[in-house]
Amino acid sequence: MITVYLNRQVTDDERRESLFAGDFYLYSGKPGPLGLVDHAKDLISEAFAGLDPERAQFEIGVEEFVRRVGPLKAEFTNGERTKELCRQFALDLDMDPERTYFDIPRLRVIPADDFLTAGVSYNYKAHRDMWYGHPQQLVNYWTPVFPVVGGNVMSMYTDFFDKPVKNGSNAYDYDEWVSNHRFAANEKIAKDDRPHPLPLEDFESRGEIRVAGGAGDVFIFSSNHLHASAPNTSGVTRFSYDLRTINIDDVRAGRGPRNVDSGATGTTLGDFLRVSDLAPLRVEDLETTTAGR
Ligand SMILES: [Fe+2]
Repeated sequence: MITVYLNRQVTDDERRESLFAGDFYLYSGKPGPLGLVDHAKDLISEAFAGLDPERAQFEIGVEEFVRRVGPLKAEFTNGERTKELCRQFALDLDMDPERTYFDIPRLRVIPADDFLTAGVSYNYKAHRDMWYGHPQQLVNYWTPVFPVVGGNVMSMYTDFFDKPVKNGSNAYDYDEWVSNHRFAANEKIAKDDRPHPLPLEDFESRGEIRVAGGAGDVFIFSSNHLHASAPNTSGVTRFSYDLRTINIDDVRAGRGPRNVDSGATGTTLGDFLRVSDLAPLRVEDLETTTAGR
């Protein structure tokens, strides 16, 4: 049984334990997440100057769309202002600043229909974030920048939380991806031939749900949930961001949902920054405590 909690006041330790069992949390009206939404809106309106960003895809060609979206995504992800807002986000959701580390957030720009589904607007096929080298303890915070509907969000296949799907994560190595593929996104327009870890079987979900909030409503889930970008049939471009965190005690203790099917190698942990002072996580310090697991 999976429970969806709305605006629930719990400690972050209680919430993570519940998330690791598959539950979902939704929060609305929190200043931290809204701060990142405002920042994203500022950057989006600069990038689409003079155009309605949700409908710009109908005014400009795909090359120009990519030319605008590539730098927009890079600035949102790497900008110093974004990091400061991520700290606020974490504090506002009651995470412990010393024990919590975040990965810099990603802005997703998913046009309607099949205008562009590769590269900067890659439509993720069903996956768990662990297939991409993320740790089992990862928590995902998914937030729309403009209000969304079922036709432009993510599909969550809730019945596969603890059920394996044959997939290509055995061939995925995070370090190889960073050296060879991550920065190629801007070149991919017609087809995305980067070696994403994909499902290798047709699976039938009887538990698909889609959560569609307003701007700044945060949807929190364990990244072990099988999820995908739903084909965007809404008639407008979807803008959302996702932020990911880990709690270092969870990693040290090996807590988190059971790994049912990921064979990815390498780890993203070295990319994570501590909420208190933005210090990078030192993976070498962890290896002594997690060796052999
Ligand atoms: Fe994901």
